[in-house]
Amino acid sequence: MSAMLKSVRGGDAPPRHFLELMDLEPAVLRRMLDVAGRAKRGELAGKPLAGKSIALIFEKPSTRTRVSFEVGIRQLGGDVVVLSTKDMQLGRGETPADTAKVLSRYVDAIMLRTDNVQKIRELAKHATVPVINGLTDVSHPCQLMADVMTFEEHRGPIAGQVVAWTGDGNNVAQSFIQAAARFGFTLRLATPPELAPPAELIAWARAQGAKVELTQDPIAAVRDARCVVTDSWVSMSDEREGRAESRHNLLAPYQLNTSLLKHAAPDAIVMHCLPAHRGEEITDEVMDGPQSVVFDEAENRLHAQKGVLLWALGLA
Ligand code: CP
Ligand code: NVA
Repeated sequence: MSAMLKSVRGGDAPPRHFLELMDLEPAVLRRMLDVAGRAKRGELAGKPLAGKSIALIFEKPSTRTRVSFEVGIRQLGGDVVVLSTKDMQLGRGETPADTAKVLSRYVDAIMLRTDNVQKIRELAKHATVPVINGLTDVSHPCQLMADVMTFEEHRGPIAGQVVAWTGDGNNVAQSFIQAAARFGFTLRLATPPELAPPAELIAWARAQGAKVELTQDPIAAVRDARCVVTDSWVSMSDEREGRAESRHNLLAPYQLNTSLLKHAAPDAIVMHCLPAHRGEEITDEVMDGPQSVVFDEAENRLHAQKGVLLWALGLA
């Protein structure tokens, strides 16, 4: 990067990566959500991303992440380059490190969706511009920013509230654990033992003072919860590894249906990051029912990511 560009981007300060919620202080995450709220209310002045170019790289399919980032960046006045790894040299063996060094000469930030968290870590290590995690096999922090925003819009401050997860201890569940530590809510996860989230992540969250409870009983998890969350039984990284079949048997008792939801608080909201597999992890009745906020949640990806982007670029 030229000296001139460096000075424009704030000298030699390390880039503000958005990789995992656990890497960031609660106050920083709160600031992003404040900006997200202002973005949603139309209170952001001008085109703060004018003159900025952002690369969005997808190694896996996406509807919400792709469209919300692309539209959000354009609404803020920025340019966007959307890439699939299969069309990039990254997809045929160029290293994440070399890719990071090259893209840092062209763009002001990089968002990556990958099926291997090591790739985004490597990319971030070598990029001189911010790298944003658009989902890995073990995390989905942008989703959690939208989820916390959505909860608070509907039910007020999330700190001290009980959120229940039923289903697979997957990437989204793992970001929920990080979010419980960062935003101060109690998280009860019901998963089959084989699909429980990593013990070291739970230990990390508890060491941070987070209230994270694990059970195999979905009724115990959702009891009196203000929010019940689930996600697909077969994540994209599981399809690749051919682990789909046995998951259906393991996860059937964890379905989010009306009889399970009855055990939650009467005003509990229902969230799902989508895409949903209706009739599997969630029934139509719940997904389309009065407690579901799943489409607000999807919309909030657009607003929450504006908060993330403006923070990452040092503009908020
Ligand atoms: N929730 C989510 O990340 O959706 P997409 O896979 O469509 O981006
Ligand atoms: N757990 C899902 C989330 C999709 C947004 C997956 O990784 O496929």
